[in-house]
Amino acid sequence: MSKKSSFYLLTDTHYVSKKTWVEGKPINNRERGDQIALKASPEILDAFIEKIIADTQTDTVIFLGDNTNSGDVDSHNEFRERLDKLKAAGKKVYVTYATHDYCSPNGEDECFQHGACRFTQTGTEPIEFLKRSDLFDFYRPYGADQALSVDAESGSYTVRIGDGLRLAAIIDNGNGRSHCGLFEEGNRWLSDQISQAKAAGDLIMLAVHHPVIPPWDVFSHMVDYEMYGGYKELCDTMCENDVRVIFTGHTHVQNIREFTGKNGNRFVDVSTISLVNAAGKMRKVEVDASSGECEITSVGIDKIPGFDTGEASLYEYLYSLNFPGIVKKIVPLALADYDAFLDASEGFLPVDMLKKHKKIVRFAFRRLTKARLSSLIKLGKSRKNLSKEQIRSAKNTPLTDVVYEILSHIYTGNAPYSPDTAENIIVSGVARRLDRIVSLFKIEKLAALIPPGSSLEIMAQDFLYNTRTGDDDSIKLLLK
Ligand SMILES: [Fe+2]
Ligand SMILES: [Fe+2]
Repeated sequence: MSKKSSFYLLTDTHYVSKKTWVEGKPINNRERGDQIALKASPEILDAFIEKIIADTQTDTVIFLGDNTNSGDVDSHNEFRERLDKLKAAGKKVYVTYATHDYCSPNGEDECFQHGACRFTQTGTEPIEFLKRSDLFDFYRPYGADQALSVDAESGSYTVRIGDGLRLAAIIDNGNGRSHCGLFEEGNRWLSDQISQAKAAGDLIMLAVHHPVIPPWDVFSHMVDYEMYGGYKELCDTMCENDVRVIFTGHTHVQNIREFTGKNGNRFVDVSTISLVNAAGKMRKVEVDASSGECEITSVGIDKIPGFDTGEASLYEYLYSLNFPGIVKKIVPLALADYDAFLDASEGFLPVDMLKKHKKIVRFAFRRLTKARLSSLIKLGKSRKNLSKEQIRSAKNTPLTDVVYEILSHIYTGNAPYSPDTAENIIVSGVARRLDRIVSLFKIEKLAALIPPGSSLEIMAQDFLYNTRTGDDDSIKLLLK
């Protein structure tokens, strides 16, 4: 007998109420700085909600935190109205919350948001916000009220998703910044929840805001505090108990990575891109608890009803707000119209410095835009690994095209350069050469970026192609 269930998972919706801004530089600079579509966040969320409601086969929706961008009351209220709409349409809704969902006026909880604000035409003014202690009750109808069990300390909870399938939704506020994880009591509760599910013959999936496996090795090496607090221990717990999947957010990166424990058991961390990032997507997860088969796919939107993107398609509009899109826009501007370049860089690059070093910046950008991919062949000594055809095509490929392509896949995953492509061979060659230079000349600053046991050549692969699971958008798993 099959026991099928399915759900949608959305994360990092960073909802911004229209009551909290008027058109002007302050909101536009914040949007550029944050690298996500803040102004369109209500319409984007609504477009995804319409898609979810239209799917009558899927009755469950999970949100994984950073529901709002800065924890203000208006944004939380409007976000919760969307949850009410899903509920009214017959969906079961489960929500967690994370560090963007609250403020701490005096910096308690190590919280980086000391207050929320409304963006006026010329600046900002303070507005009402939620504190960390308000969130449990605010989201109680979409969490604890439906739970099989609740961890009193963190507010984490376990729910039944379908016949034979449970989900542990971990709330990892920890102390707000340097430890985004559970404490001793919470860890005990989680282990207990896993054991109880097993004892009942149910499968269990985990979900938490912060990543448990980093999207790239350099991520945990450089910003370990952005990982789930206690991620190494959680990896061990999952392998010891043969839990096969955890869903995460926070990095805004679409990424699927696998971890193998000491006992040979494996699990995947399915990290989902921010809903309001360029090409933001949600995951659809379908499980047959009787066979343990689980299929995870990704769903995007190609238009936002009611939101004018001008001449641009939705993707082009969102992309232009994102780091790779901004780079692609400002590089030619630096050569064509320096004042426009400075204007477009505001909130993203240090404009004062760019003003001061105009000649150097223009020189560097001119060299960059003229360079071909082939200019890296000699540097990386990769000629012997390339076919004649590949060398010919590298001579005709602008280096910036490859750079933009790599950058554009940083958040969206599925970078296109497989190991047999000229781009991969040439970039890997340069990275390999840099590895040698770093070790020969003992360049400590660069060496500090490289995780133990890794190299620039290995690290470069993370940004060229998914050689790990093959596809960052979808995967088939066996949960038992
Ligand atoms: Fe986020
Ligand atoms: Fe986050």
